[in-house]
Amino acid sequence: MSPQDREIAVAIIRSFDARPEMLIQLLHGFVDKFGFVSNDAVRLIADELNVSRADVHGVVSYYHDFRTEIPGRHVVKICQAEACQAMGSRKLTEHAEQRLGVELHQDSEAISLEPVYCLGNCACAPAVMIDGKTWGRVTSDRFDALIASEMDA
Ligand code: FES
Repeated sequence: MSPQDREIAVAIIRSFDARPEMLIQLLHGFVDKFGFVSNDAVRLIADELNVSRADVHGVVSYYHDFRTEIPGRHVVKICQAEACQAMGSRKLTEHAEQRLGVELHQDSEAISLEPVYCLGNCACAPAVMIDGKTWGRVTSDRFDALIASEMDA
């Protein structure tokens, strides 16, 4: 972690008054700012909150949102929750893995393909999020069209 990033990281932690009960919120702050929670970040958070690294690591590894690796330039999330599964999200995921050349939970330099468990778009299942934008009723063809348009945008 560079000295500049460390300064930013400490500011994030202190914006939550370095309170251990705010761990999840401040981890979201790290992901928003840096895109992931590095080992250095885990160490720094533990020191600042005066908790063990295992405590921080346990929370980071429990929640899918807290990635520990640098994400690809584009982040594609496919909903794997019940309503989307009933409408074909598993098949769509297989298609996406082939189309993007990465498996679910994997990153390439260009793309991170992630599962998500409900995007609040159940009525328009299956749902997909591409770089923070949610799309519904995504077929394989529509997925390809979205990837082409959103990745070039
Ligand atoms: S179950 Fe997929 S958006 Fe809710």
